[in-house]
Amino acid sequence: MGGKKTNTNLAELRNKFISPGVASVTGCYVESGKGALLYDVEGREYIDFAGGIAVMNVGHSHPKVVAAIKDQAEKLTHSCFMVLPYEPALKLAQKLEAIAPGDFRKSVVFANSGAEAVENVIKIARYHTKKTGIIAFENAFHGRTLLAMTLTSKVKPYKFGFGPFAPEVYRMPFAYCYRCPFTLKYPKCDVACADYLEEFFVSHAAPETTAAIIVEPVQGEGGFITPPPEYFPKLANICKENDILFIADEIQSGMGRTGKMFAIEHYHVEPDLITVAKSLAAGMPLAAVVGRKDIMDSIHPWGLGGTYFGNPVACRAGLAVMEIFEEEDLLRKAEVLGEHLRERFTTWQERFEVIGDVRGLGPMLALELVKDRETKEPAADEAKALVEFCIQKRLVILSCGTLGNVIRILMPLNIGDDELERGLAIMEDGLTDISKK
Ligand SMILES: Cc1ncc(COP(=O)(O)O)c(C=O)c1O
Repeated sequence: MGGKKTNTNLAELRNKFISPGVASVTGCYVESGKGALLYDVEGREYIDFAGGIAVMNVGHSHPKVVAAIKDQAEKLTHSCFMVLPYEPALKLAQKLEAIAPGDFRKSVVFANSGAEAVENVIKIARYHTKKTGIIAFENAFHGRTLLAMTLTSKVKPYKFGFGPFAPEVYRMPFAYCYRCPFTLKYPKCDVACADYLEEFFVSHAAPETTAAIIVEPVQGEGGFITPPPEYFPKLANICKENDILFIADEIQSGMGRTGKMFAIEHYHVEPDLITVAKSLAAGMPLAAVVGRKDIMDSIHPWGLGGTYFGNPVACRAGLAVMEIFEEEDLLRKAEVLGEHLRERFTTWQERFEVIGDVRGLGPMLALELVKDRETKEPAADEAKALVEFCIQKRLVILSCGTLGNVIRILMPLNIGDDELERGLAIMEDGLTDISKK
């Protein structure tokens, strides 16, 4: 393609060659990024509160990540671990085993995307337990491959027209306190939604045939739905009593996003199996299943793997991410960022009627927008308008939620104060703007 690169020219090219099945939030074609800033092909600067959907916890093009990628690319980009294995994958696996919760030995299987990690974790759970049933949750998102899509709960756009779906998946209500599926109120409810699993065994899926439950500790695409502290310990206990594996899908909530390496740590639960992806390798396509060694090691040789299993360049990026967390004290930074954001969002909630709920863990925070605080009618149009307002003012933010009315924040955890404050000022202007209409 000759001529000047503009957003319009690139949009034309896209329309010709990319399926419209893949949509984008903005019409800005990005050329580079640094820290929490992005630059489009026309040289415009954007503040990034989206992080490429939870991928850039350490920021764009972090010098350590760039150096690791360059160094590894010059040495070896691929040999296939299943043919000629290599050290970077081993070192990253060792690191993941050390940081994953659970005072027991673990081992690791790599994959290329979150959905692929989910596919693998289900294979592992089924193989190990010799059971087939999987319990997933309302509002869940686990990816776009056939089984991951089946586990996902939102029909449009993720599942619509893409069936038939995979068998043996059962769906439980989740602890969505703001819109309690049991119409109860926390804490008076005594977290009955977790106890409901026992009833679920009677009417939906017998424990004798259920291999695992798979759950996001903070539901990501579903709207940053954050259960109360007792929820996961109760669920995990019921699972244990019934020989059902507990799988935490930490693909969005992991890698420090909530101020702890894994969100489930806030709940003091040690999952049998964990999936991780997104911020694991700062944008290199890498995912992993980390799980109890006895479970992971029960699989027969060649039963797991893939051509790009633990690609060496991606694993070096992952190792650089781990170092950055330590050197920059990123978990502590995330905690401080989370406190700051919550304070600001709570002040906004007092000021803007449209904010029905502020929720999340650490800096994994969201605003649920409603037309009316009494009826809680979802304000999806307002959420869309807020995202558009911010993008116009060059702040990239994302909505989410099964009802499309949640605004979520996923900026790099090491964002500078200036960019953070500028971004928050734009959000505040946007909230003022949508509140006038
Ligand atoms: C919790 C969760 N699981 C799985 C996935 C799927 O990951 P990927 O898009 O890398 O396949 C996502 C992606 O948003 C996610 O948030």
